Amino acid sequence: MSRPVWTALRTAIFQWDAETVHHFFVRLIAFTGRFWAGRVFLRVIAGAGLRETSVPVELLGMKFRNAIGLAAGFDKEGLLIQALPHLGFGYVEVGTVTPLPQPGNLRPRLFRDAERFSLFNRMGFNSPGAIEVARNVTRARRSGTLPGDFRIGINLGKNKETSAENAASDYAVAVRPFENLADYLVVNVSSPNTPGLRDLQTVDSLEKIVTAVRTELATWKICPPVLLKIAPELGGAALEDLIRSETKIGIDGWVLTNTLGGYWKGGKGGWSGGALGTLARDRLESVRSRSRLPILSVGGILQASEAKTRMDRGANAVQVYTGWIYFGLRWIPHLLRTLAKS
Ligand SMILES: Cc1cc2nc3c(=O)[nH]c(=O)nc-3n(C[C@H](O)[C@H](O)[C@H](O)COP(=O)(O)O)c2cc1C
Repeated sequence: MSRPVWTALRTAIFQWDAETVHHFFVRLIAFTGRFWAGRVFLRVIAGAGLRETSVPVELLGMKFRNAIGLAAGFDKEGLLIQALPHLGFGYVEVGTVTPLPQPGNLRPRLFRDAERFSLFNRMGFNSPGAIEVARNVTRARRSGTLPGDFRIGINLGKNKETSAENAASDYAVAVRPFENLADYLVVNVSSPNTPGLRDLQTVDSLEKIVTAVRTELATWKICPPVLLKIAPELGGAALEDLIRSETKIGIDGWVLTNTLGGYWKGGKGGWSGGALGTLARDRLESVRSRSRLPILSVGGILQASEAKTRMDRGANAVQVYTGWIYFGLRWIPHLLRTLAKS
């Protein structure tokens, strides 16, 4: 699809409510990805030559098909897994997954700010719950269609009604159904849309949460690495504290960062894309200067050159969300080609 055709199509698509469009395309791509011919079709419309441009990366003790992942929140249910390798992605972070199903906030809760290539959301962890998501991931794994080096991360959260004191047990319950399904796990304490969640970004709270998750993992045959996803607002002494205590907390890596909290369209929510700007890159640089753990850099990647900059500044891999919405299916192969050239 040429750029003018995509721009015209995008203008038409953007006439509809953002979340309705999202659900429609997730289901369409998920359906297409279930069939051999559908996967070939996806490869063709995303752009040829994926195999040559997909350069594997080693991190977290495993090989990733390539360094471009789909960020958490896009595939909350684990429906797109079979399709994503054929659209160019090297990995996906499914979720956020809550222990019990919950509807999230009232709609409308997802908005576009096309002038800034941004999205504003107050989804509030809408999730079918861990058991249902694990069922979807199982189906994808059992399909036998996934390339062995396509990695699946599971991003974990807590239910809205769970108090801060009981948060740790929520993360432990959420991870339980994912034995043999997750290549890596993410403790997400950084959504601006679950009241009080970001207050858990302290050494004490995180140590409790990660310990609870690790206690659960102790019964698993293979224990996946546990990463921490933080908010872009977390800087200064608070961030220093976490970095200094990364071993004490018990994490194996970082996901930097979640959306930037703000107010728009009559409510609180989080900005992604252009509005997140350089903050996610700054956080990558701060953490990389003091930590040797792997970092997945996410936030405000809207150009191939920015993906490359993140890798040059110490990211082990990157993730995208908003850029994919604005630039379409051909954008991921374009990012891959740029990374492959460097
Ligand atoms: C609609 C929407 C929903 C999101 N939901 C989640 C989520 O459930 N869990 C999470 O960790 N991050 C979530 N995110 C944040 C993204 O994973 C990512 O950190 C953020 O969008 C910045 O990347 P981007 O600028 O490439 O979009 C969400 C983002 C958007 C736009």
